[in-house]
Amino acid sequence: MHPALQVTNLRKEFGPTLAVDDVNLTLREGGALAIVGESGSGKTTTARMIAGLETPTSGTIHTAGGPRAVQLVFQDPYASLDRRQRVRDALAEVIALHTGLRGAARDHRVAEHLDQVGLDERQAASLPRALSGGQRQRVAIARALAVRPRILILDEAVAALDVSVQAQILTLLRVIRERTGVAYLFITHDLGVVRHVCDDVAVMHHGRIVEQGPAHEVLTDPQNPYTRTLLDSVPRPGWKPKRRPAPTP
Ligand SMILES: Nc1ncnc2c1ncn2[C@@H]1O[C@H](COP(=O)(O)OP(=O)(O)O)[C@@H](O)[C@H]1O
Ligand SMILES: [Mg+2]
Repeated sequence: MHPALQVTNLRKEFGPTLAVDDVNLTLREGGALAIVGESGSGKTTTARMIAGLETPTSGTIHTAGGPRAVQLVFQDPYASLDRRQRVRDALAEVIALHTGLRGAARDHRVAEHLDQVGLDERQAASLPRALSGGQRQRVAIARALAVRPRILILDEAVAALDVSVQAQILTLLRVIRERTGVAYLFITHDLGVVRHVCDDVAVMHHGRIVEQGPAHEVLTDPQNPYTRTLLDSVPRPGWKPKRRPAPTP
């Protein structure tokens, strides 16, 4: 079967800066792949090229269903939400644009998408500023899914949320993937969140993928020294790294 996404020898230069250097990635249909790495490693640039928002210097990107089948969710949902638009109207607008549905059929679809992300009638009638950060991110996810993408790119989508809210959103994402078969490209600097949503992980450092494989393998038995450094910097309940740094007196 063809993958949802196949990235080959992807490269992006910004003047003298080599932001993305020979990146190769495969995302299965309905799969979940994490790209992890510290700030500035080239994750967002990779995501933007896959979403068609940035032109690669070289390399190829193949997405099942074409570039329109890719939707992005950012760290700050405010950036993608109209502050004067009620949640219900924001969803109705996307659905009308994408499907041509009107009237009761459209409203029914809006209700389905609200329900899918766990938002109720009261929140549907609210403006974004009346919602919590987690609720706003649910709206952003609903809006992205309303386009029925094959691939959802989540770029630090839970990074600004409290840990308990993060866990709720990650659980929600897992359920949505099971129900809809949408594939995730999950971008994060936080290895701790990867194992909750992803099957596979690619570790990015200075624009290059230094290690990739099944998440449980990379997270428990990292082969690359940089991956070990990343893992050692994240406290993970119930996980013991193979090598601990020497205790400081
Ligand atoms: N539009 C741009 N113009 C110039 N440099 C950029 C631009 N976007 C990103 N960069 C540079 O590319 C590198 C990778 O950035 P980015 O993809 O945002 O990394 P990450 O998302 O992993 O933090 C950084 O050095 C960043 O400064
Ligand atoms: Mg980024």
